[in-house]
Amino acid sequence: MNSISNLKSNSNNNSESKVIIFDTTLRDGEQALAASLTCREKLQIAFALERLGVDIIEAGFPVSSPGDFQSVQTIAREIKNSRIAGLSRALDKDIDAAAEALKVAEAFRIHTFIATSTIHVENKLRKNFDDVVEMAVRAVKRARNYTDDVEFSCEDAGRTPIDNLCRMVEETIKAGATTINIPDTVGYTLPSEFGGIIETLFNRVPNIDQAVISVHCHDDLGLSVANSIAAVQAGARQIECTINGIGERAGNCSLEEIVMIMETRKDQLATFTNINTREIHRTSQLVSNLCNMPIQANKAIVGTNAFSHSSGIHQDGVLKSQNTYEIMTPETVGLNTNKLNLTSRSGRHVIKHRMEELGYTSSDYDLDELYESFLRLADKKGQIFDYDLEALVLFSNLSEEDDFYSLQSLSVQSGSNNTSTATVSLQCGDEIIIEAAIGNGPVNSICSCISRITGYAIEIKDFKVASTSTGMDALGQVNIMAAYNSRNFHGMGLATDIIRSSAKALIHVVNDIRRTEKVAVLRDSNRKLNQGNV
Ligand code: KIV
Ligand code: ZN
Repeated sequence: MNSISNLKSNSNNNSESKVIIFDTTLRDGEQALAASLTCREKLQIAFALERLGVDIIEAGFPVSSPGDFQSVQTIAREIKNSRIAGLSRALDKDIDAAAEALKVAEAFRIHTFIATSTIHVENKLRKNFDDVVEMAVRAVKRARNYTDDVEFSCEDAGRTPIDNLCRMVEETIKAGATTINIPDTVGYTLPSEFGGIIETLFNRVPNIDQAVISVHCHDDLGLSVANSIAAVQAGARQIECTINGIGERAGNCSLEEIVMIMETRKDQLATFTNINTREIHRTSQLVSNLCNMPIQANKAIVGTNAFSHSSGIHQDGVLKSQNTYEIMTPETVGLNTNKLNLTSRSGRHVIKHRMEELGYTSSDYDLDELYESFLRLADKKGQIFDYDLEALVLFSNLSEEDDFYSLQSLSVQSGSNNTSTATVSLQCGDEIIIEAAIGNGPVNSICSCISRITGYAIEIKDFKVASTSTGMDALGQVNIMAAYNSRNFHGMGLATDIIRSSAKALIHVVNDIRRTEKVAVLRDSNRKLNQGNV
């Protein structure tokens, strides 16, 4: 029995076989964002993925940065019902870093990879294929010293000569890999071709039954989901995917689509997953908001139009019988139609009711405490989303430092002469600091004040404003992408006044910069301490 035997049963009573869902939103998805997520945001997504029923959460690439290491470690410590994986190249230092970050988990997976296509082996790695096989085998063996759950990926498998691919798969299984992942890294293959690759592996690799075959498809030609389904039909039993399909370039196979295909077309596929489909909508919204990645309206399963009917003929049909134009119901993916906006004007009973709808019982939280922190947050943010409410419950017993900077007061003068003057007063820990500055517009002058107060010379790269409700007291949501020290940070602010929203978004940015700097300082001092101990 291999080490994933505890990833729930492999078949159910109807002899459908289980497909393992490996979510890489926090690794492949996150690496493609303009601004990286904070540790707290990643943990919030990890909690949502756990609740969704994801079998394996790839939490990050620990060796890549101190922030990634810390996030993987935190997620490994907190998540109990999904297995946590960390990525590593086929290098000792990567594997050791992944093991170090993951060891706090009850059970974990090390995912190691190396490129196998001739294009990558010759032009990127500048090696010959024999050396690459040797590196892969060594990496798998090293990872097996830390855990009996080791996944090996043949990067760019879709363009790898089939004889080489068969050899690599056989050798890495022999070395101890328990999952073999076949990525279509550049989204190049056609479904028939990709399904054929998986079929050939099953036919030609003698020890193939000793590992789970996984696929990881990119969407460059819009075929990632179709290719993953072709692979399942050929025998693959793990799919790597992301929420809303986010990921490198055109993204990855989307979790919600692949899961709903298996749900809706059981008649053809005879497979099942552990996913609670009713959590799909909520998880998709959370990822879209925290990642600042809007979902296109016509996106399958989670787009705002995915379940709305426009044509008169369709509307008439659906009213007579839903199945005329609906192959699945909106309820199956957790869409509920009447939603109340939560603001500081909402009463306790509304919060209690919403928590019930989100699946929490009164024993999961203290309503008095929750309502108090809800009001404090609503005063700061304006509108409160479901994920904010959940964060108040989830993080109430986790020591996460509060925001260091908060807005005390703001005044801006603007006119038609291209110059604005702003005065900003910020609470900075225990002290209040006030600065005034001029700029070529209100946001620019506020940004200069905040840069002076905090010492972070931030540069606004992108600025978006949208309305989140309607009417005279509609809330304006500002999303800002700001650069600091060659890194991007995302900030969001919400208020009835968009100048105030902008100030809040900028303060969100400087709080995240401060947190990131603290992690780096901590990591450096740990490193120095360790060096001193050698
Ligand atoms: O696309 C890819 O090949 C990857 C691997 C690291 C699995 O993301
Ligand atoms: Zn990828």
